[in-house]
Amino acid sequence: MTRIIGFFNQKGGTAKTTSTLNVAAALAERGRNVLTVDLDPQASLTMAIGIDVTAIDLSVYDLLLDERVGISELSLSTSISGVDILPSHPDLAAAELELLNVLERERQLDHRLRAADISRYDYVLIDSPPALNIISINILVAIRELVIPIEPHPLSIMVLRRLFETIDRIQRLNPDLAVLGFLPTKVHHSSRLAADMLLTLEERFPDLPLLPSAPLSVKGAESTAERTSVLQYMPNSSIAAAYRDVAAWLEGVAAAEPLAESAVQQ
Ligand SMILES: Nc1ncnc2c1ncn2[C@@H]1O[C@H](COP(=O)(O)OP(=O)(O)OP(=O)(O)O)[C@@H](O)[C@H]1O
Ligand SMILES: [Mg+2]
Repeated sequence: MTRIIGFFNQKGGTAKTTSTLNVAAALAERGRNVLTVDLDPQASLTMAIGIDVTAIDLSVYDLLLDERVGISELSLSTSISGVDILPSHPDLAAAELELLNVLERERQLDHRLRAADISRYDYVLIDSPPALNIISINILVAIRELVIPIEPHPLSIMVLRRLFETIDRIQRLNPDLAVLGFLPTKVHHSSRLAADMLLTLEERFPDLPLLPSAPLSVKGAESTAERTSVLQYMPNSSIAAAYRDVAAWLEGVAAAEPLAESAVQQ
């Protein structure tokens, strides 16, 4: 069974894109076939993975808005063996308004994923925009599992209430949605604040595990500039090792019992 996992946090800059890319690369390194999906009009994942956005014929914009367009028509292979992508395009910014007139507008992504034969992929990993809009709702309705990338910082924790309120509402539309846990990113290991914030997360959300942390590292940004994953760019770096740990964690969870409903303790 293909696992469909979203990386979502409506807060900007929490390393959603970096995590989607590097977890995909780490799963591919373990021999898995991965389809990444860029559902952010910024098209950061598409560019970071080395695709020329100006040269794309079809993007996720067409997928969401044109029933005749299927996943196989827009999927592209990438320079990372075992990783494909459904590319984004700046046009996607218009989708929010255009979806207003579409019946079941929050289920378009779900419908497309169900209609496609994605069985050759072990994983579908979805990168999200930093917004709680109709595109992110489409993502939350279509995924089975959610990872919340979070920077251990007081402001990050403040936005979680709104995120969990949304997840609770979505669970009426998508009862199978499981929150896998928090993925701490940009973690400065000697920072007292980061350590305190991770403790706060554990205390406030005792049912939600903390995934292995991605350390603060300039290599993350450098690999984006090189338009590949950090596993390709700096295979021996601590951040590459961290994303390998995240991939191993996800694979371990696959064998376990389904985790928490959104178990929120505000
Ligand atoms: N572990 C890290 N250490 C240092 N910088 C990082 C790390 N991970 C990501 N970054 C950098 O932080 C910035 C934001 O990362 P990224 O684009 O992945 O976040 P995002 O959540 O996808 O952002 P957005 O909300 O805009 O989509 C980028 O410049 C990225 O290179
Ligand atoms: Mg992003």
